[in-house]
Amino acid sequence: MKIYELTLEQRIKYLLENEYIDQRQADSLLKRQTISKDLADSLSENQIGSFSLPYGFATDFLVNGKDYLVPMTIEEPSVIAAASNGAKRIKHSGGFKTFPSKRIVYGQIVLEKITDIDFEQLEQNSSEIFNFAQNAYPSLLRRGGGIVSLKFNRYDEFTEIELGIDTVDAMGANMVNTILEKTAHKIVELTNDDVLCSILSNSGQGQVITVEARVDFAQLGTKDMTGEQVANRIVQLSSFAQKSVKRAITHNKGIMNGIDAVLLATGNDFRAQEAAAHSFAFESGQYQPFSEWHIEDAQLVGTLKMPIELGSVGGAIRALPMAQLSLAIMKIKDSQELQSVVGAVGLANNLSAIRALVTTGIQTGHMGLQSKSLAVSAGAVGSEIHAVAEKLNQTKDYTIKNAENILKELREK
Ligand code: MEV
Repeated sequence: MKIYELTLEQRIKYLLENEYIDQRQADSLLKRQTISKDLADSLSENQIGSFSLPYGFATDFLVNGKDYLVPMTIEEPSVIAAASNGAKRIKHSGGFKTFPSKRIVYGQIVLEKITDIDFEQLEQNSSEIFNFAQNAYPSLLRRGGGIVSLKFNRYDEFTEIELGIDTVDAMGANMVNTILEKTAHKIVELTNDDVLCSILSNSGQGQVITVEARVDFAQLGTKDMTGEQVANRIVQLSSFAQKSVKRAITHNKGIMNGIDAVLLATGNDFRAQEAAAHSFAFESGQYQPFSEWHIEDAQLVGTLKMPIELGSVGGAIRALPMAQLSLAIMKIKDSQELQSVVGAVGLANNLSAIRALVTTGIQTGHMGLQSKSLAVSAGAVGSEIHAVAEKLNQTKDYTIKNAENILKELREK
C-alpha cells in the first residue's frame, strides 16, 4: 500500500516500526500535541494561542546515497505530493548529489562621517579589531567556528566593517549580532568613530549550495509523450525561465514551496531564506531561476544553485518539539546535511512542477488534491470528506457551491 493511502495512525505506525521515531514521539503525534503556553510565551509577545498547519512527510529522497523521509509543514495540498513525485523519479536514476557550503554569515558595522584619516586609522587597527571579534564569542571558537574575514568598504560618507563569521551548525543570528555589537563598542573605543548600526546581513552569499539531479528519460514519459519528448519540453521551459522574469519568479516559487515547507518543519527562519534567495536570483542584474535543466548523455540533468540559510541547532530549532522531531526523522547530523536535503527538496518540487506544466498542466493534479480541502470548507466531516472529494473529482467542477450541493445530496440519502 502506498503511504498516501494509509490512515494517519498507520503512517505514524510506519514511522515507528521503521525507527524514524520512538514511542514517545509517536504518542505525541497521535495526541496532536501543540506547543505549551510557556513555550509560546517565551517565543512571542502577546501570544494568545498557537497556529497549526498540516505536518507531513515527503518520501523517496535519496541524497548523497542516504535515504530520507522529509518532514514538511505546508497548507498547499500539492506540495508534499509534488516533492515525493519528483524525488522518486530522481531516486530511480541515482538520486541527488549535493555540494553544500560552510555556514558563513556576513555582518556589517556601519560608521558615518569618516574622513580619509579616520579610515586609515581604522585600517591600521584591523588586526586588533579582528582579534577582538574573534574572542567576542568563545563558545563559537570552541565549536570550530569564528571570524573568517574582515573587510573595510567605503560608500560615500559611510564606511562598512564587514565581518564574515563561520557559525558552524547554528543559524547564528543572535551570535553574529552579539559579536558585531561588542566589536562596534571596541571600534568606538579605539577610534572614537560614530557607529550608526551593527547587524548581520541576510545576503546568504556565504551559504550557497549546488544540487544536481540526473533523470533517465524512462522516468519522464506520460501516456501521450515519450520520456525524451518530455525532457526536451522541460529544457525548453527551463530556458524560457532564463529569458522571462515573470516565468522565472513562478519557477522559483515552485522551488520555494518545498524549501520553505522544510524550513518551517525544522523551526528555521524562512524569512531570512526568502530574503537571501531572492537577492541571489537578482545577482546578475537580471532576475534568474534558481535551477536549470539540460540534456546530457541521454539524461535530463538539473542543477539548482542558491543560498540556503538555515541552522540545525539553537534558538527555536532547539525549543520547538516538532522541529526536533523533524530533525530526528531525517537523522540530521549537521547543518550541511540539512542544507543538502532542503536543496534536494527544492529541485524535486521544481522537476515535478515543470514536468506537469509541459505535459498535462498542473490543474488536474492540483484540483484532485484540493478537492479534500474544498469538501472540508463545504462542511464535510469524517467519512463525508472522502465521499465529497471523490464526487468533486468525478464532476471536475471544483467550486465550493458544487461541494456544498454534493454534501447536501449525500446527507439527504
Ligand atoms: C505552484 O505553487 C507552483 C508552480 O506554479 C511552480 C511552477 O510554475 O514552476 C506550479
